[in-house]
Amino acid sequence: MQRIPEPDELMDDAAQAMAYAAADFSEANSLFVELVEQQADGALHGALLDLGCGPADIPILLAQRHAGLQIDAVDGAAAMLDLARERLARDPDMAQRIHLRCDYLPCEALAHGGYAHVVSNSLLHHLADPRVMWQTVAQCAADGANVVVMDLARPLSVVAVDGLVETYALNEADVLRRDFRNSLFAAYTVDEVAAQLAAAGLDSLDVRMVSDRHLAVCGRIG
Ligand SMILES: C[S@@+](CC[C@H](N)C(=O)[O-])C[C@H]1O[C@@H](n2cnc3c(N)ncnc32)[C@H](O)[C@@H]1O
Repeated sequence: MQRIPEPDELMDDAAQAMAYAAADFSEANSLFVELVEQQADGALHGALLDLGCGPADIPILLAQRHAGLQIDAVDGAAAMLDLARERLARDPDMAQRIHLRCDYLPCEALAHGGYAHVVSNSLLHHLADPRVMWQTVAQCAADGANVVVMDLARPLSVVAVDGLVETYALNEADVLRRDFRNSLFAAYTVDEVAAQLAAAGLDSLDVRMVSDRHLAVCGRIG
C-alpha cells in the first residue's frame, strides 16, 4: 500500500496536543521502555536525547526508572511542550533532570556526539524527509551510544489499517482515531526503514517488527 504523508509534521494544534496527551499509550510506552532498557543491558545513565518527545510521557517514565539519567527532550511543537511543562511542574526532581527543548529537526544546535542514548517514539512517520531522523541520530549519538527508534509500521492494505484502528482506537475521541489512521498511512515499512539506514550509513542498527503495528530500530553506534 502506498504511503500517504501526514498532513502536518508538527502537532502544534492545542486541541490535538491535548487529545494526544490525554490518551492512554501505556502499552506502547511500556514496550518502548523495555526496548530501551534491553538495548542498554538494563542500566541507563548519562545523557539521553528523546526526539519528538510530545507531552514527555516517555522521558518521565525513563527518568523515574533510572536515577542516573539526564534527559534532553526535544519537540518542535510549543503546544506539546506546554503540556510537558505542566507535567514537570508537578515533580521538581523530574523538572531538574528533564530539559525540554523547542527545536525543529534538523537542528544543528543539538550537541554533536553528546548523547549516550538517542531514542525516539512515533516521530519518524511525521517527518516529511525521513533522512532528518537518521542525520540527527548520527549527529547527536556519542561513539558507542545506544539507539532505539520505534514507530508504527505501515500495514499492507486499507482493510488492515481499518482493522488496527478498530482494535486499538475504537473508543477513542474522533481526533485521535483520525490521527491514528493518518499515522498508519504515513508510517514506513521495515524494508523502507532498512533502506533508510543503509543510505545513512547506519549499518550497526537493525530494524524489526516488535508488535502487530510497531517496528523498532535498535543498535549501538560505531
Ligand atoms: C506522535 S507524537 C509522539 C510523541 C512522543 N514521542 C510519544 O511517544 O508520546 C510526534 C511528535 O513529534 C513532533 N515532531 C514532528 N516533526 C518534528 C520535527 N521536524 N521536529 C521536532 N519535532 C517534531 C510532533 O510535534 C509531535 O509532538
